[in-house]
Amino acid sequence: MTVRLVVAVDGPAAAGKGTLARALAEALGLPYLDTGLLYRAVGRRMLDAGLAASEDAGPIAQALVPADLERTDLRTPEVDRAASLVASQPAVRSALLDFQRGFGARHGAVLDGRDIGTVIFPDAPVKLFITASTRARAERRWRQIGGDVALSENVRIAAIEAVEAELQARDEADSAREVAPLRPATDAVEIDTDQLDAQAVLQEALRIVHERTAEH
Ligand code: DC
Repeated sequence: MTVRLVVAVDGPAAAGKGTLARALAEALGLPYLDTGLLYRAVGRRMLDAGLAASEDAGPIAQALVPADLERTDLRTPEVDRAASLVASQPAVRSALLDFQRGFGARHGAVLDGRDIGTVIFPDAPVKLFITASTRARAERRWRQIGGDVALSENVRIAAIEAVEAELQARDEADSAREVAPLRPATDAVEIDTDQLDAQAVLQEALRIVHERTAEH
């Protein structure tokens, strides 16, 4: 395997990026970085400091330390919203840039996020863009957050629709922002995970990695 291979995995929330990126990193023997955690940690720190996530989060992003990423309270709905807001601030994105580039440059890595293939590693030899329908993503996220399958059909659907509305709002904000909006790099390969289980997505991704690395 190529030394210091960087694999960029981008896409909207709950499309299966994390599951794929983690499995891919393990299969390729590369370090893995979930870059969403960086924005979540900044959002978390803003909330802890009693600051609105729309205020300048640049200084907090600059002061981030690795232990911030280990916190267990980074996946609450309020952190979802705060992370999306701080992620639209150019000062936050530039403060987190060197860390992400350094992480990938040292030993190679699989990184998942929104702008890995477009901004962080525009020259990455392998770029994957992971998508799925909003309904499939909402169902997945609902299960992840402990959605109860024993609920009556109506209650379950209403709960999934509420998650879907949140996901859509966040994707729209992530796609519409001026800095590093969510979009596939022109040389990214798209994988739609609607009809594929995690193992099939991994196999398809590995096939693309081998194809791309053979070309380089
Ligand atoms: O992937 P996630 O849901 O943990 O990401 C949290 C937020 O951070 C999400 O609103 C998008 C943003 N983000 C980003 O702007 N750029 C990245 N590389 C990763 C995440």
